Amino acid sequence: MIDTKRIQKAARILHDGGLIAFPTETVYGLGADAFNAQAVERLYAAKGRPGDNPLILHIATVEQFTELTEELPHYAMSLIDAYWPGPLTLIAKKKYHLPSWVGGHPLNSTNTIGVRMPSHPVAKAFLDAAGCPVAAPSANKSGRPSPTTSQHVKDDFGTTGEIDMILDGAGADIGIESTVVDVTGAQPVILRPGIITERMIRVAAKVALANTLTNTNDAKNITAPRSPGMKYRHYAPKAPMVILKGQSYDVAMYILNEYNKTPQGEQIGLLITDLTKQILANHQLSNTKIRTLSQDHITVAQNLFAQLREFDTLGVTKIYTEAVADDGIGVAIMDRMLKAAEGNVVNV
Ligand code: TXA
Ligand code: MG
Repeated sequence: MIDTKRIQKAARILHDGGLIAFPTETVYGLGADAFNAQAVERLYAAKGRPGDNPLILHIATVEQFTELTEELPHYAMSLIDAYWPGPLTLIAKKKYHLPSWVGGHPLNSTNTIGVRMPSHPVAKAFLDAAGCPVAAPSANKSGRPSPTTSQHVKDDFGTTGEIDMILDGAGADIGIESTVVDVTGAQPVILRPGIITERMIRVAAKVALANTLTNTNDAKNITAPRSPGMKYRHYAPKAPMVILKGQSYDVAMYILNEYNKTPQGEQIGLLITDLTKQILANHQLSNTKIRTLSQDHITVAQNLFAQLREFDTLGVTKIYTEAVADDGIGVAIMDRMLKAAEGNVVNV
């Protein structure tokens, strides 16, 4: 399954300052040699990423982690034991002798560094071959939904000539980005929820969490985010999106009402549960593209970004999405939905 020749070629291109897209177990990443300032600058330019939004460094071994970071609190080591390799990013204090910009844009300086060790076999082989930390944001144009297939990467970068190679591989199965946890203080802080839930962090860390963002409805009201990436419009499809919160019947009635107001010739996208679909089935909704929102949160996370991208391809002019229960993995799903909808929620 692993094409060693291609992996070696990708590592060579990376060492020469190139940009390589590669699959991880969460979403596809776009990698640059983390210590090559020019390559990192190219990475920001290719994505159109604001310079004040730092990058996650991807590593293959725990030794690489200790070379990048100052000594960690005990609970952080417990998190590493429990969840690495895997979809968990740790924000730690940066080793004092590292260039001040490493982990961010070369014109900025940071005293913390985000690090993650992916479990995807292609990512692992690539990082092993590279032998250096690889700075890799998600491989989408800034503000677009993260890519979960190599086709999504091609859709954003295929014709631009801005990236040098795409490593293929099935299995960006989680579908949403890693959980980001700040481990610089006495207690862990979740900066970005993910498939590794608050409860899983608490159980493994054996300490209470500080200031965790549990009420994601407040996401658009955060004024001083600790994770800079949280303040930008994210994951957004081209069409405006509205999240509908309430019982299936009320969601269906709201959609019907909106549908009746939709101008002729426009298509609306619906991301709704089977139950809501059944209620709507009694009505003639011709100009809709309906995609299913599973009852199972793992499946919802897996499909969400691909479904938002599909609505773009289908050319819908408005998207209505049903909310999911805001607990466990649902916290991470609601976080992504709220960003895609720019906080636009209707309680039906
Ligand atoms: O699953 C993932 O994490 C994917 C795959 C490719 O590994 N990567 C990813 O990277 O989602 P990106 O750049 O799209 O998101 C990184 C997030 C941003 O919200 C950024 O602000 C935050 O991590 N971050 C990175 N370094 C940080 C730091 N030193 N302090 C605070 N937040 C940081
Ligand atoms: Mg991203």
